[in-house]
Amino acid sequence: MKIMIVGGGGREHAIAWAVAKSPKCDKLYAAPGNAGIAEVAECVDISVMDAPALVSFAKEKAIDFVIVAPDDPLAAGVADAFLDEGIKTFGPRKNAAIIEASKAFSKDLMKKYNIPSAAYETFDNAEAALAYLETQEPPYVLKADGLALGKGVLICQTLEEAKDGIKEIMIDKKFGDAGDKVVIEEFMTGREVSVLCFSDGKTILPMTSAQDHKRAGDGDTGLNTGGMGTFSPSPFYTDEVAKFCEENVYQRTIDAMAAEGREFKGVLFCGLMLTEKGPRVLEFNARFGDPEAQVVIPRLKNDIVDVMIACADGTLDQIDLAFEDNAAVCVMLASDGYPVSYKKGYEIKGLENFADKEDYFVFHSGTKFADVDGEKKVVTNGGRVLGVVALGNDLLEARKNAYDATELIDFENKYMRHDIGKAIDEQ
Ligand code: AMP
Ligand code: GLY
Repeated sequence: MKIMIVGGGGREHAIAWAVAKSPKCDKLYAAPGNAGIAEVAECVDISVMDAPALVSFAKEKAIDFVIVAPDDPLAAGVADAFLDEGIKTFGPRKNAAIIEASKAFSKDLMKKYNIPSAAYETFDNAEAALAYLETQEPPYVLKADGLALGKGVLICQTLEEAKDGIKEIMIDKKFGDAGDKVVIEEFMTGREVSVLCFSDGKTILPMTSAQDHKRAGDGDTGLNTGGMGTFSPSPFYTDEVAKFCEENVYQRTIDAMAAEGREFKGVLFCGLMLTEKGPRVLEFNARFGDPEAQVVIPRLKNDIVDVMIACADGTLDQIDLAFEDNAAVCVMLASDGYPVSYKKGYEIKGLENFADKEDYFVFHSGTKFADVDGEKKVVTNGGRVLGVVALGNDLLEARKNAYDATELIDFENKYMRHDIGKAIDEQ
């Protein structure tokens, strides 16, 4: 089978690694891919947003199955473009990807179908939003409605700060059109857990749990990033929490989407907060998380191609999804200065150290090939550069292995958090 992955980050590298080891995969392409994905796939220089070029490439190469991994192309209807040409595709159509692309939509859906989440109000004009803030208590949670690279949520400690936030989002348009509407939400506290679920529109199969560390600095300080590291499973996602979510969140959400005429096929990412009153949904995404995929996929026992095709075909009820009884930790190696400003183009040394290691992976996020002194080398090409992943019998071992493995890689400007998976120590 000829398979193509649309995307070019660490998540796509983890997917590509798993797809490439499937006996069902004869040839793998990635658009645009990156220097790491190039080890397992042929990379083609087509933008993830260029649906016509992607579809014509897929037709030219007679590709049998396409995986659309990132949020922007899903929200823009890139999966639809393949499906409408009769090409089997993994990933929701635009009308279902809206569960991530519009916070107002997902909040209304949760309210209508009684899916536990924070109380909220939606505003499409700044005056009304500002007036509403006056009636609320701090902290204030403001969410730009649309996609904002994971940065569209502001938690404000004072009324002043919240008012400035509304101005930034709705008047200054800091996040562009994503700020045409804003959701103001009840502030909740508790542990956060991410549960990614495969869905074929009718059946939903939750994967093993994971947790992301979103802030740039140790001890959860500094700015929000795309994710500085992850661990899986989460010790806080107990059987009791899982049972509650299976009954009140996962199935109910895809049934709700189906009832709305928005069949959801692909990965439904449920961002949960474990509050004192029980689990609550923080957000839905319409795709694998990045870097959650980097710790969840290496623990998957199934052939990922079988599972993804079952999602596309509507036969997920025939899949017995299983994960290894182990743990994984991903430490993101970033460029110092991320997420604000940073330099790139530095040679990355030590990648070859991972070639012969079974329980260690290095998934590329922002890398590319460049000519260094007349030789083709892998250089840094983004804020988040590489995800160093290690498995272990338990989280503590996986964490030690992952941090040991970060020593094997070197580049100028290398920055990482030192407390990924730290919550584990509290167990
Ligand atoms: P989201 O993109 O909606 O997941 O929000 C990003 C982050 O903001 C979450 O991972 C939480 O840490 C925080 N957050 C979002 N909503 C709330 C809320 N209602 N109460 C407290 N924290 C929140
Ligand atoms: N790691 C969070 C996300 O992918 O949205």
